[in-house]
Parts: sequence; structure tokens; C-alpha cells
Amino acid sequence: MKNKIPTFHLNNGMEIPAQGFGCWRIKDEASAVNSVKWAIQHGYRLIDDAAVYMNEPFVGRAIKESGVDRKELLIASKVWVQDCSYEKCKHAFAKSLERLGLDYLDLYMIHWPLGDYLGAWKAMEELVRAGKIKAIGVCNFTEKDLDTLLAHCTIKPVMNQVECHPIFQQKAMHHYLDEHGILMEAWSPLGHGAVNLLNDPLFVALAQAHHKTPAQIILRWHYQEGILALPKSEHEERIAQNFDIFDFELSEDEMNEIRKSDTNHRLNNDDPYSEESRKIIASRVYDIE
Ligand code: A2P
Repeated sequence: MKNKIPTFHLNNGMEIPAQGFGCWRIKDEASAVNSVKWAIQHGYRLIDDAAVYMNEPFVGRAIKESGVDRKELLIASKVWVQDCSYEKCKHAFAKSLERLGLDYLDLYMIHWPLGDYLGAWKAMEELVRAGKIKAIGVCNFTEKDLDTLLAHCTIKPVMNQVECHPIFQQKAMHHYLDEHGILMEAWSPLGHGAVNLLNDPLFVALAQAHHKTPAQIILRWHYQEGILALPKSEHEERIAQNFDIFDFELSEDEMNEIRKSDTNHRLNNDDPYSEESRKIIASRVYDIE
């Protein structure tokens, strides 16, 4: 590893690496094991997984085979919508630990604000107090969902993981989270590798100016905005490239140019602000066991 990884501060006192590796959509066993091992070799210490990604056993194998001390890694997983209740969440957490082959998690999150998420949160608070989880957070929560959770919780969420990239910058959510001391994490930080985003003349020009790639410019923008990005790739060269963003800086003018790219439109149809979309997501029941 080249440099010390910069960190973000969490509201429970923990420090977290300023960028993590996202495991969404890596289903194939060999690809999952290799990708996570490459990520760890190239410096990532935060691995973001979820029960519904169906790859926890492979991620667990990669962690063991990486040769890096478990205590140096931060492993995150998430409870899927069908397990969003007090009892089911405890069971789902135990199953995630078992599949990952671990005896604690650094981060555990509610994947969507659906079902009895207050019950699930209570279970997660108990698991924190029992020493099984170091920090708890949420994903895809709206401001209204967060207000509800904040009114009932005894432990505040450390983060909200949401879709975020230069064309959907989530400025209102980011402002809300800053005000509440909650870190914003970005899923699909590269817009799923959308070609039109990576080929956008602005990112191509900035890449040339900084001797970097458009993907690195976008990831550096997240970092300088105070957003923890979780890029995914199954290619070693891209995995390494995506982490190599801590040796240059975008100027305030360049940051402002990127801020203007915001269209406020999602690339993904899953929208927590839409009742219709929430119903569709809630109906996605999978055989995760
Ligand atoms: P692949 O896994 O084949 O490398 P996001 O994290 O925003 O969801 O983006 C992930 C997508 O972007 C994946 O399809 C991934 O493809 C692609 N990707 C990841 N890193 C890069 C990169 N540095 N350059 C181009 N595409 C990338």
C-alpha cells in the first residue's frame, strides 16, 4: 500500500477509510473472491457487502485468504427487507456472520426503510451493546425515514448509503445528513460505470489536466465533497486505479464545475421517495439462507 488512507470521522467516535470497495453485482464465486482480494491488496480496508448480494461466503473467503489481519479491515453488511423486524434481524445478522465466517461486523445497516425498521434497529442496538457490531447505519433512507428513526433510536445511525454520483448529487440529503452528523455514503459512485458519464467532456478534460482517468476524477470529487464512495469493479487494474485518488487535488473551481453537472435524476429506478417503488422493493423476497 502506497499512502496512509485518509479517513472520515463517524458520530460514534470511529474513524472509517475515506473510500471502500462495493460488492454489489459481483455474483460469480471466482470473480468475487479475486475482486475482494485485489481490493485488499491495493489498499482498500472497508469492504461493503450485503446479504442480498448473495456473495457473503465468497467475500468471507477473500478476507481469510487476503493475509491481512481481520482487525485491520472494516466489514459491512446489510439486513434485507424481508428480515426487517426485531426477531428476524437478529437471525439475519447471525446468518450473515456465519456466511462471512466472522465473529463480529464493523458495520451493519438497514438496506431499505421498509417493514418494521424500528424493530430491526432495536435489534441492531442490542447487537452493538453485546459487542457484535461496532457501528450501525442505514441505506436509502429519506429525510422523513431518518426523522422517524432519530425520534426512536438510542444509538444514532453513523451513515446513510444512497445512490450518488455527479449527475445525481443528493445535495438536499447531504445537507440534512451534515446537519445531523451522519456521513453520506455513495452507492454507484461512478453511475454504474455509465459510459456517458465516464466519457463526459468535463471529466475527460479534468482527467487530462490531472493525469488521471475520468473515474478517478469522479471518485476524488466524492472524497473532497465528504462523501464516502464505494466503487465496484471486477477488474484488478480498475480496482487499483479507483483507489489511487489520494495524491492529487481538484481546485475549488473544478469542484464547482462538477457540482454544475447535477441533473437531480437517478440512474436507478429504485426510489425511496416513491410509494410505488417502495412497494416493488418490499416485494423482492429472496432465498438468502
Ligand atoms: P467492471 O466491474 O467490469 O470493472 P458503480 O460502482 O458506480 O456501480 O460502477 C460500477 C461499474 O463501473 C461496473 O460496471 C464497473 O465495471 C465499472 N467500472 C468500475 N471502475 C471503473 C473504471 N475505473 N473505469 C471504467 N469503468 C469502471
